[in-house]
Amino acid sequence: MWSGRFREPLDRTFEQWQRSFPVDWRLLPHEVAASSAHARMIAAAGVLTSEELEKTLQGLIAVGQRPDNWAHRISATSGEPEYATSTQQIGAAIVASAPQAEDIHHYVELELTREIGSLALKLHTGRSRNEQIATDMRLFVRESIDATLFGLEQWIAALLSLAESAGDSVMPSYTHLQRAEPVLVAHWMLAYVSMAERDHSRLVDARIRVNLCPLGSGAVAGATLALDRHIAAEALNFDAPTPNSMDATSDRDFAIEFAQALSMLGLHISRFAEELTLYSTAEFGFLDLPERFSTGSSAMPQKKNPDLTELIRGKCGRLTGTVVALSTIMKGLPLAYNKDLQEGQEPVFDAADTIAGVLSVLPSFTRSLKFRFDKMAGAAETGYLNAMAAATYLTHKGVPFRKAHEIIGNVVRFALEHDKELHALRLDELQMFAPEFSLDFHDAISLRATIDCHDVMGGTATARVKQSLTEAQSRAKARDLTRHHSVSEVVNA
Ligand code: ARG
Repeated sequence: MWSGRFREPLDRTFEQWQRSFPVDWRLLPHEVAASSAHARMIAAAGVLTSEELEKTLQGLIAVGQRPDNWAHRISATSGEPEYATSTQQIGAAIVASAPQAEDIHHYVELELTREIGSLALKLHTGRSRNEQIATDMRLFVRESIDATLFGLEQWIAALLSLAESAGDSVMPSYTHLQRAEPVLVAHWMLAYVSMAERDHSRLVDARIRVNLCPLGSGAVAGATLALDRHIAAEALNFDAPTPNSMDATSDRDFAIEFAQALSMLGLHISRFAEELTLYSTAEFGFLDLPERFSTGSSAMPQKKNPDLTELIRGKCGRLTGTVVALSTIMKGLPLAYNKDLQEGQEPVFDAADTIAGVLSVLPSFTRSLKFRFDKMAGAAETGYLNAMAAATYLTHKGVPFRKAHEIIGNVVRFALEHDKELHALRLDELQMFAPEFSLDFHDAISLRATIDCHDVMGGTATARVKQSLTEAQSRAKARDLTRHHSVSEVVNA
């Protein structure tokens, strides 16, 4: 591919070690698409005739079908059905089939030469692998963003259906992991919907910056042919060509942003996983883990372990690791392309695979959760979770809040000493602490009243939560419509 200026053969070990084909073979569909777009662009510049272009495009289609051919061959020799052929098996076969290929770009060129002969050698006119890898990675990240958005929407739908079926069930909320105030179970679920919606918008936003086409940037300074870069950008469904060739060939901020968005998403999912792990313990008993998503212990026969949620917590660490790896690779790289960038591929693939794995189980797991609403309500009714509502009651009677806080603190102390909840105290007992207590006090601190006194936007009052749920459901529907719209646009295009 580049041996012309060399007189000495490469060190064998070094030569093997510097290859990226064992990793980047999975960019094949993107490399084929980008090469086809480049072919159209150089044809328009007069480098290929229309017959040559046609032949090149057909050849590239054939090269793009190599994985299918390998799946077919593997299943024919193993007797396993074709769909059972794993991506790893196919990758290993492709990599083994092309021992000379240094990377995916080299592989496609070699295979294209096998398909269409020396015409293939014209394809590299006016381009560089530096712009190719930047383009392939953008295509890969864009595809993974779309898949993640879809999975995330499924998870949001699952959370919304849990929120809906929870109705007006209550549970304790916690601060410092100590019981704080009662909230609706739906309110808790909607907290995760809020997080997931921000993750969604972060990915949608990152996609805007990913969706620009480096083709035509050349090795660093721009192509040496007068190419119409819009041709390639349009062929690949990019919004526009990238504006600067040095930047386009050497920055990977789009990949880092993608990893950051996934890391944040992973972080939210991990908090959810941690809460479920905790709430499924005998100590909390707020939910029974679905058996089909749990595992047993080989030692202790009674165990049902939350492996799914634990593994999800672990995967989140891995996603954050990607951000650190990519940022560390990029940091301090002089402009423009440096081979260090090749090292960034693996973490990006790993993050994409990790989130795809998590989102392949999370929505159905979430849907199958069964809460023990009785236990949750029981926990919300004990432990003085209505103390804040009690203090608020006094403020409605004109007592300044600081004072009310102190009075209720003393009442709680008294109740603790007598092993009673606040609502079990008699009016005469209460009035020892403040004359403002009267007959309406017990209604004001009932579980329902304690919930409903949080009647602010974003609060847990029943009507507010109902409203929030409806709004979240219509946002989900709107996202669904956009998706159908964009899918039909692609189909009709
Ligand atoms: N395999 C290389 C990578 O992933 C492709 C670009 C190679 N460019 C170069 N100048 N060596 O980064």
